[in-house]
Amino acid sequence: MLWVKAFHILFVISWFAGLFYLPRIFVNLAMVPADSSAERERLLLMAGKLFRFMTPLGVLAIALGLWLWFGYGFSGGWLHAKTALVIGLVGYHAWCGMLLAEFRTGSSIKSHVWFRVFNEVPVLALLVICILAVVKPF
Ligand code: HEM
Repeated sequence: MLWVKAFHILFVISWFAGLFYLPRIFVNLAMVPADSSAERERLLLMAGKLFRFMTPLGVLAIALGLWLWFGYGFSGGWLHAKTALVIGLVGYHAWCGMLLAEFRTGSSIKSHVWFRVFNEVPVLALLVICILAVVKPF
């Protein structure tokens, strides 16, 4: 069980590196002057590679979590609350994919300030999920 949990935490950390950094690239994309197409293309390339890289990491983090849950008989309100937050994170991940598509087509109209606030969501989710997973308050 400890090997499964070790890899669960490894892929959670790797997934979150993407969930933290991709919206940061969006902040920079939203600030690129209209005449800087080279910088825009460079940031779009980075964002595309990162999104393709972080998606399987998220799938593995969740698969190993489900293996822990159903393979080792974990239970409790903390796990249900945690899973609900993880479903929210999957939605956030998918939303990042849609925002990336908007940047690619040039139809993104959101400001860099909007993306700075958007960038804080995974931070709050990580804080609550770690407390639920370690402290198990209910
Ligand atoms: C549906 C997805 C997930 C499920 C079903 C799940 C389930 C679990 C289970 C059953 C454990 C073992 C708890 C224990 O040993 O006490 C665990 C550990 C852990 N999970 Fe998840 N997890 C999921 C996603 C995540 C995510 C997204 C994060 C991070 C944000 C996360 C963070 C952790 C941490 C930090 C631990 C170690 C807790 C400890 O050792 O006390 N998990 N997870």
